[in-house]
Amino acid sequence: MSKEEAPFVIFYNVTKWYKGNVIGLNQFTAQVSGGITGLVGPNGAGKSTFLKLATGQIKPNIGIVRVFNKDPFRDSSVFNDLGYCPEQDAFWSWMTGKEFVEILAKAKGYSKEEAKKETTRVLKIVSLDDERADRPIITYSKGMRQRIKVAQALIGSPSLLLLDEPFAGADPITRAHLGRTFEDLRKEGVSIILSSHVLHEVEQFADQIKLIYRGRLLAEGPVRDIRALIYDHPHRIKILTDSPRELAKYFVSLPSVKSLEITDPSNLHYGILWILTHNPAVFYKELPKVLVSSKVHVEEIMSVDDNLQAVFEYLTQ
Ligand SMILES: Nc1ncnc2c1ncn2[C@@H]1O[C@H](COP(=O)(O)OP(=O)(O)OP(=O)(O)O)[C@@H](O)[C@H]1O
Ligand SMILES: [Mg+2]
Repeated sequence: MSKEEAPFVIFYNVTKWYKGNVIGLNQFTAQVSGGITGLVGPNGAGKSTFLKLATGQIKPNIGIVRVFNKDPFRDSSVFNDLGYCPEQDAFWSWMTGKEFVEILAKAKGYSKEEAKKETTRVLKIVSLDDERADRPIITYSKGMRQRIKVAQALIGSPSLLLLDEPFAGADPITRAHLGRTFEDLRKEGVSIILSSHVLHEVEQFADQIKLIYRGRLLAEGPVRDIRALIYDHPHRIKILTDSPRELAKYFVSLPSVKSLEITDPSNLHYGILWILTHNPAVFYKELPKVLVSSKVHVEEIMSVDDNLQAVFEYLTQ
């Protein structure tokens, strides 16, 4: 295995729970190698927990976390070659952007002069090397805050960047600019793991996607495979109703519906209408309208693959 291919982040059977028995990650096993990896999942999926474990801010209850073959919780030398951008704006917001980056550069061991130089370099990368860098962070837009957070992660040119929702709340220009910045860094050999709620936000430039949901790894692979899974995956929906045949008439004309089947369990007052769709995103958009216009009583709607349904709804909204 060449150096580039060797996984530099390894999670093996990692479980992390918080106080009150809340599960952050649940028997999570994954590896990350080079390129850009998108960690995608809805609220509470465990994305930040993954990144906090990888940066040694918290420690797993069970399992093994390795970054560059070291345990990040015990060995802070991991940070020599790692840049981290937290989810929250944990700024000293009265400082200017420049002061903020400079102080963090000094904390990383740079002398005053070197810190100034390094600050100029990283601010240029995120295109904040103008008068805005001399304004207090409190006056910054969300997009500028995201840029300055990314800038501080670039101090010292680390070979691995861990970025927690770097696009959150950012304007379209900042998003496009950050996306290009990440692509440029990848070309220079930097590996990036970044988290997001939405697939389309990262699919432009990510090489690999890891879909994470309820603390578990739901799926992983190249972007095109994950897209196919989300957008083209055949998906069965089960509708419990007192008039399955009547309701079926309303679904039969929908292009997103591939097939319909009716079962009438003899011991139930209700019948079941099974729907197979190859386009769950479109189907779930059309579903409420169809139900309203049919006026048929529906007792329950269930997705046969619950995990995926929740992820579909979230990632395609
Ligand atoms: N400090 C904490 N104390 C208690 N529970 C926590 C803590 N941090 C996270 N959790 C819980 O752990 C689970 C995973 O949270 P995590 O923050 O990792 O998810 P996330 O994917 O980053 O979500 P979001 O998209 O909202 O940032 C959630 O149920 C969350 O409520
Ligand atoms: Mg988070």
